[in-house]
Amino acid sequence: MWKKILRPLLFSIPADPETTHNFAVGCLGALGKSKLASYALRKRFFAETRPLSRTVAGIRFPNPVGLAAGFDKNAKAAHGLEALGFGFLELGTVTRHPQPGNPRPRIFRLGNDSAIINRMGFNNEGADAVARRLSSSRRFSVPVGISIGKSKITPLENAADDYLYSFEKMHPYGDYFAVNVSSPNTPGLRSLQDKSSLDKILSALDAARKKLGPKPIFVKIAPDLADEAIIEVLETCHQNNMDGIIATNTSVSREGLSTMTSEAGHAAQKFYAEAGGLSGKPLAEKSRRIVSFIRSRAPKIPIIGVGGIFNGDDAYKMLEAGANLVQIYTGFVYGGPSTARDINKRLLALAAPKQ
Ligand SMILES: Cc1cc2nc3c(=O)[nH]c(=O)nc-3n(C[C@H](O)[C@H](O)[C@H](O)COP(=O)(O)O)c2cc1C
Repeated sequence: MWKKILRPLLFSIPADPETTHNFAVGCLGALGKSKLASYALRKRFFAETRPLSRTVAGIRFPNPVGLAAGFDKNAKAAHGLEALGFGFLELGTVTRHPQPGNPRPRIFRLGNDSAIINRMGFNNEGADAVARRLSSSRRFSVPVGISIGKSKITPLENAADDYLYSFEKMHPYGDYFAVNVSSPNTPGLRSLQDKSSLDKILSALDAARKKLGPKPIFVKIAPDLADEAIIEVLETCHQNNMDGIIATNTSVSREGLSTMTSEAGHAAQKFYAEAGGLSGKPLAEKSRRIVSFIRSRAPKIPIIGVGGIFNGDDAYKMLEAGANLVQIYTGFVYGGPSTARDINKRLLALAAPKQ
């Protein structure tokens, strides 16, 4: 139904893909508000995942397949999304200040490559508004992570204060937090992965949670980091008692796009020159290699593997590379509402590894 009817219908809407995205978030939000509709969704997308459950960074996950950050930036659709069989949701990225993000269009679907380029630029309603929404929301049945980022108007040298503000505001509502220092769409943001900047941010958050109460914090890294830079990030995380790594965000590289080497798909060719971060199939090998590199350097650290996972076999490979959990975004856009359930079913059949 999704691949034969709904997807072609939705993808053929001549409007900007963001309109389709907002429509999907609106529908999931509306369905999630009703307990009855959530129940019906849950029944429709249920998979028995008990053998896949695991505890990572002290949190119990009913299954290892999470929704990656950026899909539900303002926590509007979380109840609808949890009913689709995800083992956890990462909401946000939320910033201290509400901000509109970059001008539209800013999402480009590269169908030939099962990829997306986006340059959203952290469009979100801001930490105060998202915290308010979550404070009046009913409890979630799966762990919820909250991704925090730097507001565009905040100078890089004041980044730590900006992250700290969002962390304090959102602290009651997240089961874990993700420090996003890896989006390519906020100028200079990725330089916050450098040792001294990262140290400032992480030490501020670590000190804050000593006062507010313990919450696991993950650091999300870019796929374009050199191995030496990854080692430095790992050391800085270790020094600041961080709980894990999310690998990876989108890439500034255009490597792996078939449209760069073939004549196929003029429409896609038009898009690959767009600025922004690349996600989806072309990212899979890169993200997996980074996960495997981190695992070789830090045998015990919790890792959430993300990048180019479309099906259970992709997820299995990511877990085998050393991830404890996986997340999906682009695979969910192309695969539709049954993606998490289908991945879990396949992982069960393959007897997926647990770190
Ligand atoms: C349209 C779009 C928006 C995104 N927004 C965010 C975001 O706000 N924060 C974040 O950490 N990652 C964001 N991401 C990155 C994803 O969370 C994920 O790391 C990346 O897309 C790789 O996974 P995938 O290949 O499964 O999409 C975004 C990705 C896309 C496609």
